Amino acid sequence: MATEVLTTGDGRAKTALSRKYAAEWFASRNGEAPEIEIGTANPPMHPARPDKPELLSPRDVPKRRPGSEAGRIALLHAVAHIELNAVDLHWDIVARFGHVPMPVGFYDDWVKCAEEESRHFEMICDCLESMGSHYGALPAHAGMWRAAEDTAEDLMGRLAVVPMVLEARGLDVTPGMIEIFRKAGAQKAVESLEVIYAEEVGHVAYGSKWFHFLCGRENADPKDVFHQLVRKYFHGALKPPFNEEKRAEAGLPPDFYWPLAEDMPLPGKA
Ligand SMILES: [Fe+2]
Ligand SMILES: [Fe+2]
Repeated sequence: MATEVLTTGDGRAKTALSRKYAAEWFASRNGEAPEIEIGTANPPMHPARPDKPELLSPRDVPKRRPGSEAGRIALLHAVAHIELNAVDLHWDIVARFGHVPMPVGFYDDWVKCAEEESRHFEMICDCLESMGSHYGALPAHAGMWRAAEDTAEDLMGRLAVVPMVLEARGLDVTPGMIEIFRKAGAQKAVESLEVIYAEEVGHVAYGSKWFHFLCGRENADPKDVFHQLVRKYFHGALKPPFNEEKRAEAGLPPDFYWPLAEDMPLPGKA
Protein backbone atom coordinates (compact mmCIF):
# COMPACT_ATOMS: atom_id res chain seq x y z
CA MET A 1 0.00 0.00 0.00
CA ALA A 2 2.78 2.41 0.91
CA THR A 3 4.69 1.65 -2.27
CA GLU A 4 1.58 2.17 -4.34
CA VAL A 5 1.16 5.67 -2.91
CA LEU A 6 4.84 6.37 -3.60
CA THR A 7 4.55 5.26 -7.22
CA THR A 8 1.45 7.38 -7.92
CA GLY A 9 2.55 10.60 -9.65
CA ASP A 10 -0.44 12.95 -9.74
CA GLY A 11 -0.78 14.97 -6.52
CA ARG A 12 -4.49 14.60 -5.88
CA ALA A 13 -4.46 10.96 -7.00
CA LYS A 14 -1.59 10.31 -4.58
CA THR A 15 -3.38 11.94 -1.65
CA ALA A 16 -6.70 10.21 -2.46
CA LEU A 17 -4.96 6.83 -2.44
CA SER A 18 -3.06 7.77 0.70
CA ARG A 19 -6.30 8.60 2.51
CA LYS A 20 -8.02 5.44 1.25
CA TYR A 21 -5.20 3.23 2.52
CA ALA A 22 -4.99 5.09 5.82
CA ALA A 23 -8.73 4.48 6.32
CA GLU A 24 -8.25 0.78 5.48
CA TRP A 25 -5.35 0.51 7.90
CA PHE A 26 -7.28 2.04 10.78
CA ALA A 27 -10.40 -0.02 9.97
CA SER A 28 -8.25 -3.12 10.27
CA ARG A 29 -6.64 -1.90 13.48
CA ASN A 30 -10.08 -1.19 14.99
CA GLY A 31 -11.28 -4.67 14.12
CA GLU A 32 -13.75 -3.36 11.53
CA ALA A 33 -11.88 -5.04 8.68
CA PRO A 34 -9.57 -8.06 8.36
CA GLU A 35 -6.08 -7.61 9.73
CA ILE A 36 -3.49 -6.08 7.41
CA GLU A 37 -0.09 -7.63 7.89
CA ILE A 38 3.05 -5.56 7.97
CA GLY A 39 5.17 -6.92 5.19
CA THR A 40 8.32 -5.80 3.50
CA ALA A 41 8.44 -3.69 0.37
CA ASN A 42 10.78 -2.29 -2.24
CA PRO A 43 9.91 1.39 -2.34
CA PRO A 44 11.41 3.41 -5.20
CA MET A 45 14.43 5.58 -4.34
CA HIS A 46 12.44 8.54 -5.72
CA PRO A 47 8.66 8.70 -5.44
CA ALA A 48 6.64 9.38 -8.59
CA ARG A 49 5.77 13.05 -9.05
CA PRO A 50 3.47 14.99 -11.36
CA ASP A 51 4.94 16.47 -14.60
CA LYS A 52 4.39 19.90 -13.10
CA PRO A 53 5.72 21.71 -11.06
CA GLU A 54 9.08 22.00 -12.70
CA LEU A 55 11.70 21.23 -10.06
CA LEU A 56 14.53 23.74 -9.76
CA SER A 57 17.56 24.10 -7.55
CA PRO A 58 16.57 26.35 -4.60
CA ARG A 59 18.70 29.26 -5.85
CA ASP A 60 16.81 29.23 -9.17
CA VAL A 61 13.32 29.30 -7.59
CA PRO A 62 12.20 32.94 -8.01
CA LYS A 63 11.70 34.81 -4.74
CA ARG A 64 8.50 36.82 -4.44
CA ARG A 65 7.44 39.29 -1.81
CA PRO A 66 4.65 37.98 0.44
CA GLY A 67 3.11 41.48 0.46
CA SER A 68 1.52 40.86 -2.93
CA GLU A 69 -1.14 38.38 -4.04
CA ALA A 70 1.43 36.77 -6.37
CA GLY A 71 3.79 36.44 -3.41
CA ARG A 72 1.12 34.81 -1.27
CA ILE A 73 0.31 32.36 -4.08
CA ALA A 74 4.02 31.51 -4.33
CA LEU A 75 4.15 30.93 -0.58
CA LEU A 76 1.15 28.58 -0.64
CA HIS A 77 2.59 26.83 -3.67
CA ALA A 78 5.77 26.14 -1.69
CA VAL A 79 3.66 24.82 1.21
CA ALA A 80 1.71 22.51 -1.13
CA HIS A 81 5.02 21.16 -2.42
CA ILE A 82 6.25 20.50 1.12
CA GLU A 83 2.99 18.73 2.02
CA LEU A 84 3.13 16.46 -1.03
CA ASN A 85 6.71 15.55 -0.18
CA ALA A 86 5.62 14.89 3.39
CA VAL A 87 2.95 12.42 2.18
CA ASP A 88 5.72 10.48 0.45
CA LEU A 89 8.12 10.78 3.38
CA HIS A 90 5.64 9.17 5.77
CA TRP A 91 4.74 6.31 3.42
CA ASP A 92 8.44 5.88 2.70
CA ILE A 93 9.30 5.32 6.37
CA VAL A 94 6.53 2.69 6.49
CA ALA A 95 7.79 0.90 3.37
CA ARG A 96 11.54 1.28 3.69
CA PHE A 97 12.25 0.08 7.21
CA GLY A 98 10.07 -3.05 7.34
CA HIS A 99 13.19 -5.07 8.17
CA VAL A 100 13.60 -3.19 11.48
CA PRO A 101 11.28 -4.82 14.03
CA MET A 102 9.01 -2.11 15.44
CA PRO A 103 5.79 -2.17 17.47
CA VAL A 104 2.62 -1.81 15.44
CA GLY A 105 2.08 1.64 16.98
CA PHE A 106 5.01 2.85 14.89
CA TYR A 107 2.97 2.15 11.76
CA ASP A 108 -0.19 3.67 13.25
CA ASP A 109 1.66 6.92 13.84
CA TRP A 110 3.16 7.28 10.36
CA VAL A 111 -0.02 6.24 8.61
CA LYS A 112 -1.87 8.89 10.63
CA CYS A 113 0.76 11.47 9.62
CA ALA A 114 0.48 10.47 5.96
CA GLU A 115 -3.29 10.88 6.15
CA GLU A 116 -2.90 14.34 7.71
CA GLU A 117 -0.31 15.45 5.13
CA SER A 118 -2.70 14.32 2.41
CA ARG A 119 -5.41 16.60 3.80
CA HIS A 120 -2.87 19.41 4.19
CA PHE A 121 -1.94 19.13 0.51
CA GLU A 122 -5.58 19.08 -0.56
CA MET A 123 -6.48 22.10 1.61
CA ILE A 124 -3.62 24.16 0.25
CA CYS A 125 -4.48 23.11 -3.32
CA ASP A 126 -8.04 24.30 -2.66
CA CYS A 127 -6.66 27.65 -1.45
CA LEU A 128 -4.47 28.00 -4.53
CA GLU A 129 -7.39 27.16 -6.79
CA SER A 130 -9.63 29.69 -5.04
CA MET A 131 -6.92 32.30 -5.78
CA GLY A 132 -6.88 31.40 -9.48
CA SER A 133 -3.74 29.27 -9.34
CA HIS A 134 -2.98 25.59 -8.78
CA TYR A 135 -0.21 23.25 -7.65
CA GLY A 136 2.11 22.94 -10.63
CA ALA A 137 1.62 26.52 -11.83
CA LEU A 138 5.00 27.62 -10.43
CA PRO A 139 8.41 25.97 -10.19
CA ALA A 140 9.28 24.23 -6.92
CA HIS A 141 12.26 23.22 -4.83
CA ALA A 142 14.14 20.18 -6.21
CA GLY A 143 16.05 19.24 -3.05
CA MET A 144 13.10 18.06 -1.01
CA TRP A 145 13.84 14.33 -1.25
CA ARG A 146 17.50 14.69 -0.29
CA ALA A 147 16.92 13.88 3.39
CA ALA A 148 15.09 10.69 2.46
CA GLU A 149 17.89 9.54 0.18
CA ASP A 150 20.59 10.37 2.71
CA THR A 151 18.85 8.37 5.44
CA ALA A 152 17.51 5.48 3.34
CA GLU A 153 19.67 3.02 5.28
CA ASP A 154 19.31 4.48 8.74
CA LEU A 155 15.98 4.61 10.57
CA MET A 156 17.34 6.63 13.48
CA GLY A 157 18.92 9.06 11.03
CA ARG A 158 15.59 9.34 9.22
CA LEU A 159 13.75 10.13 12.45
CA ALA A 160 16.38 12.65 13.52
CA VAL A 161 16.41 14.54 10.22
CA VAL A 162 12.85 14.33 8.91
CA PRO A 163 10.41 14.78 11.80
CA MET A 164 12.85 16.17 14.38
CA VAL A 165 14.65 18.69 12.15
CA LEU A 166 12.60 19.38 9.02
CA GLU A 167 9.10 19.10 10.45
CA ALA A 168 10.21 20.90 13.62
CA ARG A 169 11.35 23.76 11.37
CA GLY A 170 7.74 23.96 10.18
CA LEU A 171 6.70 24.74 13.75
CA ASP A 172 9.16 27.67 13.76
CA VAL A 173 7.98 29.27 10.53
CA THR A 174 4.23 28.58 10.37
CA PRO A 175 3.08 31.29 12.84
CA GLY A 176 4.75 33.97 10.71
CA MET A 177 3.09 32.57 7.63
CA ILE A 178 -0.32 32.58 9.31
CA GLU A 179 0.25 36.26 10.14
CA ILE A 180 0.93 37.10 6.48
CA PHE A 181 -2.40 35.61 5.41
CA ARG A 182 -4.27 37.08 8.36
CA LYS A 183 -3.05 40.57 7.40
CA ALA A 184 -4.17 39.96 3.84
CA GLY A 185 -7.63 38.86 5.04
CA ALA A 186 -7.17 35.45 3.41
CA GLN A 187 -9.37 33.51 5.83
CA LYS A 188 -9.32 30.16 4.02
CA ALA A 189 -5.51 30.14 3.99
CA VAL A 190 -5.38 31.16 7.68
CA GLU A 191 -7.71 28.30 8.67
CA SER A 192 -5.79 25.76 6.60
CA LEU A 193 -2.44 26.84 8.01
CA GLU A 194 -3.85 26.69 11.54
CA VAL A 195 -4.89 23.06 10.99
CA ILE A 196 -1.42 22.30 9.63
CA TYR A 197 0.27 24.05 12.55
CA ALA A 198 -1.76 22.09 15.13
CA GLU A 199 -1.25 18.71 13.45
CA GLU A 200 2.45 19.13 12.73
CA VAL A 201 3.20 19.18 16.46
CA GLY A 202 2.06 15.55 16.47
CA HIS A 203 4.40 14.62 13.62
CA VAL A 204 7.42 16.01 15.45
CA ALA A 205 6.23 14.25 18.62
CA TYR A 206 6.02 10.88 16.84
CA GLY A 207 9.54 11.41 15.56
CA SER A 208 10.82 12.16 19.04
CA LYS A 209 8.87 9.27 20.55
CA TRP A 210 10.26 6.60 18.16
CA PHE A 211 13.73 8.11 18.22
CA HIS A 212 13.77 7.78 22.00
CA PHE A 213 12.33 4.29 21.74
CA LEU A 214 15.21 3.17 19.49
CA CYS A 215 17.83 4.88 21.67
CA GLY A 216 16.37 3.11 24.68
CA ARG A 217 16.50 -0.22 22.91
CA GLU A 218 20.18 0.37 22.11
CA ASN A 219 20.94 1.85 25.49
CA ALA A 220 22.25 5.02 23.83
CA ASP A 221 21.99 8.63 25.00
CA PRO A 222 19.28 10.26 22.82
CA LYS A 223 20.79 13.74 22.85
CA ASP A 224 24.26 12.57 21.83
CA VAL A 225 22.90 10.29 19.13
CA PHE A 226 20.66 13.07 17.82
CA HIS A 227 23.62 15.46 17.51
CA GLN A 228 25.73 12.83 15.82
CA LEU A 229 23.05 11.85 13.29
CA VAL A 230 21.99 15.40 12.42
CA ARG A 231 25.63 16.33 11.84
CA LYS A 232 26.05 13.26 9.66
CA TYR A 233 22.93 13.61 7.52
CA PHE A 234 21.73 17.21 7.64
CA HIS A 235 23.51 19.74 5.49
CA GLY A 236 23.93 23.04 7.32
CA ALA A 237 23.16 24.51 10.71
CA LEU A 238 19.72 24.76 12.27
CA LYS A 239 18.23 28.24 11.97
CA PRO A 240 16.98 30.12 15.02
CA PRO A 241 14.64 31.58 16.13
CA PHE A 242 13.11 28.33 17.35
CA ASN A 243 9.54 27.87 18.49
CA GLU A 244 10.67 26.59 21.87
CA GLU A 245 7.18 26.16 23.25
CA LYS A 246 5.82 24.02 20.42
CA ARG A 247 9.09 22.10 20.18
CA ALA A 248 8.82 21.29 23.89
CA GLU A 249 5.21 20.22 23.39
CA ALA A 250 6.49 17.85 20.71
CA GLY A 251 9.13 16.33 23.01
CA LEU A 252 12.09 18.24 21.59
CA PRO A 253 14.06 19.93 24.39
CA PRO A 254 16.36 22.92 23.74
CA ASP A 255 19.55 20.96 24.43
CA PHE A 256 18.74 18.83 21.38
CA TYR A 257 18.64 21.64 18.82
CA TRP A 258 20.54 24.64 20.22
CA PRO A 259 23.99 23.00 20.00
CA LEU A 260 23.32 22.42 16.28
CA ALA A 261 22.34 26.01 15.60
CA GLU A 262 25.65 27.64 14.71
CA ASP A 263 29.15 26.92 13.49
CA MET A 264 28.22 23.35 12.93
CA PRO A 265 31.19 21.33 11.65
CA LEU A 266 30.47 18.89 8.84
CA PRO A 267 32.56 15.88 9.88
CA GLY A 268 33.42 13.45 7.15
CA LYS A 269 31.13 15.04 4.58
CA ALA A 270 32.27 14.71 1.00
FE1 LIG B 1 1.76 18.78 6.81
FE1 LIG C 1 4.12 16.78 8.89
